[in-house]
Formats: sequence, C-alpha cells, structure tokens
Amino acid sequence: MRIQPAAQEPVLDDDLLIAGDNAEVMQRLPAGKFDLIYMDPPFNTGRARARHTLAVVADAAGDRVGFGGRRYSSTLLRTLRYDDEFGDYLAFLAPRLTRARELLAAHGTLYFHIDYREAHYCKLLLDEIFGREAFLNELIWSYDYGAKPRRRWPAKHETILVYVRTPGAHLFDADAVEREPYMAPGLVSAEKAARGKRPTDVWFHTIVPTNGHEKTGYPTQKPEGVLRRIVAASSRRGGWCLDPFAGSGTLGAVCRSLGRRFVLVDENPVALEVMRGRLAPPLSPPARARAGRT
Ligand SMILES: C[S@@+](CC[C@H](N)C(=O)[O-])C[C@H]1O[C@@H](n2cnc3c(N)ncnc32)[C@H](O)[C@@H]1O
Repeated sequence: MRIQPAAQEPVLDDDLLIAGDNAEVMQRLPAGKFDLIYMDPPFNTGRARARHTLAVVADAAGDRVGFGGRRYSSTLLRTLRYDDEFGDYLAFLAPRLTRARELLAAHGTLYFHIDYREAHYCKLLLDEIFGREAFLNELIWSYDYGAKPRRRWPAKHETILVYVRTPGAHLFDADAVEREPYMAPGLVSAEKAARGKRPTDVWFHTIVPTNGHEKTGYPTQKPEGVLRRIVAASSRRGGWCLDPFAGSGTLGAVCRSLGRRFVLVDENPVALEVMRGRLAPPLSPPARARAGRT
C-alpha cells in the first residue's frame, strides 16, 4: 500500500491511500478502471461529526456510575472530527458523481450511501447522471442503536442507492454473497433452512460494535459486514475498488480480506492517520494467500 498526496499522479500498481479533495483526485484516476465505487459522503446534517474516546478507571470520587453503583472517572483521550455542512449539497455531489460514472468499468457499479434526509434528492440527481434505466437497487440498511424519540418513528436505517454503468452488462455475483438465516425457517424445507437465504434489499446489521475488533473510533465508521456484501457481489478478485470518501477505510479493510485492490481518498488528515493504522500492518502469509496475493 502506498500513501500519497492528491497532487502526485496516481499509478495503479499498488493499493493507494490518497490525501486530498476527491474532486481533484478523481480527475487524475484512469477512466473505466473500477469494478466498484462506494461513496459514503457526509450526510449534510449541518453539524460537525465527532467521536470522543474516553479512558475509564475505577475511582470512588469519579464522575460516572457503573454496574452495582461502582464509580469511575473518565479522561478524554482524543476527539476525531470532520465537518458535515454544505451550502448546496447536490451541487457538491454532482461533479463527483459524474466523474464516478466515468471511472467505472463497463461492468462497474456505484453504491451511494446516504441517510433518509437526503436520499430522495440524491435519487433524482443520480437518475439524471446515470439514467433511470441504470438504477439497480435501493438497499435499506437497518440497525438498532441510539436514542428513540417518542414523537415519531425512530429513524434506524440508511439508504444505499445502486447504479450500474451499463444496464444489463453489470457484474453481480449472487453466489459470492454470504447467506443469512430465513426469518421463518419453518416455512421452507430443512435443507433450505440449513443453507440459509440470499440477502434481499433490506439488510439488518448492527452498527460497528463499541468493543468490536474493527472499531477505529472514527465518526460514522460503517460496519465491514455491510461492505463485505457489496464488494463480494459487485467486484472481481484482483479487481479495483474506489472509495472517494474513505473515512476510516472500511472499504480498504474489506478489499484486503477479499483479495481486491483499492484506492481510498480522504481530505481529512485524521482519516488518513486512522487508515494508515488500520491498513498498514502487512498481511500475514496465510492472509496474503487467502487474499490471492503472492
Ligand atoms: C461518512 S464519512 C465516511 C466513513 C467511511 N465510510 C467509514 O466507514 O469510515 C465521510 C468522509 O468524507 C470525507 N470528505 C468529505 N468531503 C471530502 C472531499 N471533498 N474529499 C475527500 N474526502 C472528503 C470526510 O473527511 C469523511 O472522512
């Protein structure tokens, strides 16, 4: 893996981590090269996104009360943050989506991750850029975490809009996607129940678990399980995948484990630091073999 600034010409002979504005970087990447582009831009919530990491130690005079009334004190270790406010969100996205379409191979697919506040406006914009006939799916990722307001239905899903470069000629490997349990296994044969079903367009999947091994602490980090389905279905072993809003580098982590090549771009130096830590450790020989690298 190589780490480089936006101004340097990107050469796709190794996995790349590029620091800089994706509008500039995407112009320099070769057209028609990518099996898959995953875009998870800031959702235009109008606030800074931040995640605080605390160290907690037992302390009789501490500020936090835990199980059994025991007291703990907490120290702020670090705050990871990026801004999420745009004057004209669609005008920000349009040139990046237009270029994303050009970067896709003829069989390539775009996965555009967005929340319920912007999803409908983005669908219209994507229809305009890719054509309505290129619309493949609306994926709903549903999770169950966080506060639940009592004055409306708690919003616990995000939307992933899927568009292909060439309708009908896109890559989609349904058999490569891990199966999941049937909701009502009693309604199908024992053999089918044991094999599980192919996931549909509604995905129930936890957010990144607070104590899980994949947690980096970067705000809005997406779970590897969600990205694994996307990469498995819509890219080839050894094929190139791009994430222009890479954050903590979830797409890169999944590409590594599934034997795909990747280009990750982010303008936030903190994201670059997190990605370096997450992706720099060399793969062990068995992991290299699993990922198809010699
Ligand atoms: C929602 S986060 C991505 C999270 C990522 N999918 C993950 O799993 O960690 C969006 C990222 O886009 C980056 N970003 C926003 N505008 C950008 C731009 N113009 N060029 C490059 N990166 C940008 C932010 O710094 C932030 O890290």
